[in-house]
Parts: sequence; structure tokens; C-alpha cells
Amino acid sequence: MTQTPWWKKSVVYQIYPRSFNDSNGDGIGDIPGMIQKLDYIKELGIDVIWLSPVYDSPNDDNGYDIRDYQAIMDEFGTMEDFDLLLQQIHERGMKLVMDLVVNHTSDEHEWFIESRSSAKSPKRDYYIWKKGIDGREPTNWASNFGGSAWEYDENTEEYYLHLFSKKQPDLNWENPLLREDIYEMMKWWLDKGVDGFRMDVINFISKDQRYPDGEVKPGNKYASGSSYFRNGPRIHEFLQEMYTKVLSHYDTMTVGEMPGVGVEEGKLYTAEERKELNMVFHFEHMGLGDGEHGKWSALSWKLTDLKRIMTKWQKGLDQKGWNSLYWNNHDQPRVVSRFGNDNEKFREKSAKMLATCLHGMKGTPYVYQGEEIGMTNVAFPTIEDYEDIETLNWYKEQKEKGIEEAEMMRAIYARGRDNARTPMQWNDSKHAGFTTGVPWLQVNPNYKRINVTNSLNDPHSVFYYYKSLIELRKKDETIVHGSYHLLLPDDEDVYAYTRTYKDDMLLIVCNFSSSVQTRSFSELGERKVDRILSNEDSKQTYSLENVELSPYEAFIYRLT
Ligand code: NOJ
Repeated sequence: MTQTPWWKKSVVYQIYPRSFNDSNGDGIGDIPGMIQKLDYIKELGIDVIWLSPVYDSPNDDNGYDIRDYQAIMDEFGTMEDFDLLLQQIHERGMKLVMDLVVNHTSDEHEWFIESRSSAKSPKRDYYIWKKGIDGREPTNWASNFGGSAWEYDENTEEYYLHLFSKKQPDLNWENPLLREDIYEMMKWWLDKGVDGFRMDVINFISKDQRYPDGEVKPGNKYASGSSYFRNGPRIHEFLQEMYTKVLSHYDTMTVGEMPGVGVEEGKLYTAEERKELNMVFHFEHMGLGDGEHGKWSALSWKLTDLKRIMTKWQKGLDQKGWNSLYWNNHDQPRVVSRFGNDNEKFREKSAKMLATCLHGMKGTPYVYQGEEIGMTNVAFPTIEDYEDIETLNWYKEQKEKGIEEAEMMRAIYARGRDNARTPMQWNDSKHAGFTTGVPWLQVNPNYKRINVTNSLNDPHSVFYYYKSLIELRKKDETIVHGSYHLLLPDDEDVYAYTRTYKDDMLLIVCNFSSSVQTRSFSELGERKVDRILSNEDSKQTYSLENVELSPYEAFIYRLT
């Protein structure tokens, strides 16, 4: 049998640099601040750190608009700081994965400045320029951040494509020179010693060259063009080329962020023999509660839907690819508020339950900063308290349509990206110990209760529970390799599944409800039961019959 690659046994911790730890009092997290907290991350048992972008950027989209791929953002520090960070991560036996944002750059990137300077510029084809049609945009596609996906440029009388903000022009992957430049840049970072990449909206890079219009939904001005750029015609070719030219020469971990990817495509992207990526982030579970207005509909969700989605991916990629496992990132609301219960009575219990449910599965788990202490969503009083470009643009559009303030704020509280971006809560001092200055985004007012110091001082905290789950993955082959089988598929309160590897079986049971539930698992036969982890105080005997689960109780049993 071939050796298991390191990333299959790893747990990843995502740092959102702006909000992690500020070392110089300017209110913005920075690289020296990260270095100060590496021992904390190591204490949790983390193997790999994924850094959201730290590159030079005018910050239209907090670093996802890159001005220079080979320089560090001033607010975050210097390249020397970065080199020290990398060295310190490696010294602690951890690895570092960088964010790779190559669907677009900033409009302040030198390539774009050159490209827009003239229709004859040698860099013109680095971006996607088109003539208007009958005095309007080349297609009716909407930008992900509102309005048209095309911006008119008076200088050359053409439009450029931007699937995100107009300060994020899309790169033209059809151009082999552009691709070579990207590959050279990737090699430069890998030669420096970084251990891989999380690839931003990487399944958007190949556009349908016919550039067709999409279907406009009633009440909307623009259409979703997504079927013409998601998992586009040349996407697999581009990723295979990237693998051959770059990744195959290094021992890396790669994860592609892929909005709209389904499990069948997921197999194509992650099957080892296809030589593309190690794993993808799909968004099917993140879409629960989406409606007519996408995520802003913020509808209620059903546990059976969550199970159906997770099960589809667990089974679909078993032996065929590899899953990434996540509840949170810098774009999503906090999971304890979303799928758990952030009322103080149940916050810690439900945060541990959610951790059990996810970390019991097969794949590589990701922990987003603050998740390990059960940080929650935030509800700032007014829109002026918010910073996120997506949230602000959406609010403005809705206001123009005459939508009520309370309705908009309700959606922002439930699904806005700033929920994840409030500064990390380190202790109960002013601004949660994140900065000695004024934070760029306010701290969640609950920091006096919910913070790292409190978690580290309490042996029963969410932090130590995550630590136990991560330790379990390191010593238990069944957690890493076992195949997944769902029990109780129609149950709206309890999520139960088994993991089986050789003769070993684990049973994972999670009560997603705030009431007591009783279930039997007799279908698993007569077995000896050992409880290996739970968020509930020890009971005397464990059995598979009439198992009583307290609100949000979760456990992992070993069955022999
Ligand atoms: C996905 C990133 O996670 C998000 O934060 C960003 O706004 C878009 N891609 C555009 O880069």
C-alpha cells in the first residue's frame, strides 16, 4: 500500500490576517502578531496553517484584490516578517498554505495598468476585454458583488470583465503567456518553502468563449452568468497543466475553492490519477437556507438536508477523491450561531457537538480562527458599523429598491461576511486584546465571556474539546480512512453515522436539538461499546438501545 499523504492526516487552521492579532497598535492584524500566536495554534494540535491573502493590495476586498503577488501588504509587515513566520511555522513542525487568487487581480496590478493603457498593449490579453453590444455591456452577467460584471473603459472604448468588484478584473486564462507568469509566481512561493495553496474561486478561471447572455430572473436587471464560467470548458486542462508544470515538482497540499461544484465534478477535480487538486471546498451545505435572494433570503434549514449533502460528498468521494471538511471560513457566518445554538446556555455544548459531527467524518478538517473557542455571529446596530464590500453593496441595492431596514439587517445578521471577520477574542481586556489601537472592525461585544484566555483556563472548554478531536485523528486510523455510513436518514433532530475500517467501527451521534432525544442503534448488532469522546458528563453504562441524548449531546463510540 502506498503511504498516506500528509494532508490526509492533517487538520488545517485558517487565519484571516486582518482580524487575527495586531502587534503594532494600528488596529489591523499583522504577521508579527501571527508569530506571537503560533504556540497557541500548535497547542490546539494543528498541522497546517492556511493564510488568507497577505499580498500587497489596495484592500477593496480585504486582500482578495492583489496588486503585487510577490510583495507583502504594508499593514501586515514585510517580506522579512513573512520569512520569519514561515520559518517559525516549520520549526514547530507545522506547514503553511497560501491563498492563491488568480481568477482576478486588483485593477492596480501592473499588468492591468498596462493592459488598460491601450488596445494594442502587449498585456491587453492578460484580461478580458470586449466591445459593447448595441450600446450595452457585452453580456448581461451580474457581478457577485452587485451590478454588471462589466466595466466600461473610456480610454479604449471597451469593457473589461470583473466577476467580483470592478477593482477585481478577471484574468484571461486563454492566454498562455498569462498562465506561464502565474506558474512562475507559484514556483517562486514554493521555492521559498510554502507547502501549498488554497485556490480562490479556481473553478471560475475558464470562461465559455462564446460569452452568451444568461437568463434574467423577474425583478432583476442582470443574470447569473455562472453556467458560462463555473467549471468552464478548459478548467480541467488548465489545472492539469498547472499540476504538470508546477505542483508535480513539489510536495504540496492544494484545495480549490469552488462555488457551485457538484460531487461528480468534485471527483474529477480530486481523483488522484487525474493530477489536478487534492481537494475542493464545495458550498452545498453553506447554501442551506438560501432562497430567491440567494444567501440573503436567510431561510430556516433542515437537518435532513444537511445530512443529505454531507452524505452525498462522503460517499461520492470515498476511494475516488478526497473531501475537505469545514463549517466556517471568512465568508460564512459563525457555525455555532448558524447550525448550533449561540444562547449561552447551549453555546459551548452545541459548538462541541458540531465539532464532533464534522471531525468524525472522512476528509481534511479546517478550523477557522475563533471557531475553536465557540465565537458567535455579531449584530451591530447600524450599517455604518459594517465593512464588508459584499454586504455594503447589497444593502445599497436593497435600499434603492425600498426594502425595509429591519429586514436588511436581519439578513446581514444571519449571513453577512463580517460575522466571521470581527477580531479574534484573545482576552477580556479592551478590544479583546486584539489591538492596543482602534480595531478596523469592532470586536464582538461578547468578548468578555468568550475569549481565548477563558478557554485555556477551563479544562472543559470548546478549545480542549477540539484539541481532543484533533488528537484522535492523529492516533485513530478509522477516523482517517474509515468509510462512512449514514444512520437515521429521516431524523430531523439526530445526526448519526458510522465509520468503518477493517474490523473497526466508530459510531458518531449528534443531537442537533435543544431537547432530550432517545434513539436505538440495534441495526448495528450486539457489540461491546466503548465511549471514546463526548461533550456530556460520563454516564455509567453505554449501550446501543434506548440511548438517551441530552440537548446537543454528541459522542463517539467504538464498537467491537
Ligand atoms: C472567495 C473569497 O473567499 C472571498 O472572500 C472573495 O471575496 C472572493 N473569492 C473574490 O476573491
